[in-house]
Amino acid sequence: MVFIQKAQPEHVKGIARVCTEGYWATYDEMYSAEYINAVIKEFYNEQRILKEVESSSREWGGYFVALDNGEVVGAGGGGMISEKVGEIFVLYLDPDRLGEGVGTKLLEAITRQQKEEFGAQEQWVSVAKGNEKGIPFYEAREFIYQSERPVYRSNADDKIISLRYWRKL
Ligand SMILES: CC(C)(COP(=O)(O)OP(=O)(O)OC[C@H]1O[C@@H](n2cnc3c(N)ncnc32)[C@H](O)[C@@H]1OP(=O)(O)O)[C@@H](O)C(=O)NCCC(=O)NCCS
Repeated sequence: MVFIQKAQPEHVKGIARVCTEGYWATYDEMYSAEYINAVIKEFYNEQRILKEVESSSREWGGYFVALDNGEVVGAGGGGMISEKVGEIFVLYLDPDRLGEGVGTKLLEAITRQQKEEFGAQEQWVSVAKGNEKGIPFYEAREFIYQSERPVYRSNADDKIISLRYWRKL
């Protein structure tokens, strides 16, 4: 049985693991190894995740984890980008655990926080163009495509386009 809860410091290693493995599994075919390693090093290192687990505000509501028998099998989080508008900033699963409803449970937990604690009435998410795991998931959860925008990274040649999706809550 998979349970969702706010992440604690003891979950930091598991969050780093699912984000790193999830990132590789999602983008291996799309981006250079150099780019993937740079993103993982910047965002999914344990020091940064610990800080992000310990901080919670409107702008960053903290990490949520999906736990199976105490093991982290998914992680995600978001925050408010304006008065009544929330955004999902990160959502990754253990690549062996896709399609079991764990992503939906994490999305629901983050969404409940944004609605109940922060008054969100709508929600955004950015998904990389070509991410054939993320796009069908958000579309199944009633996000609607709005626009695309380039993602600029100084250290890579990868031309990365991010798709903006939106839904009413
Ligand atoms: C996106 C992700 C979090 C979805 O989590 P998940 O647990 O696999 O998704 P769920 O099992 O909750 O699926 C929910 C719905 O999305 C649909 N769906 C999910 N993945 C899909 C896919 N690859 N193709 C088609 N439909 C898909 C399911 O059919 C389901 O719809 P239903 O309940 O109406 O039948 C997960 O696939 C993942 O971690 N992907 C890699 C990382 C990523 O892309 N993250 C998002 C970047 S912001």
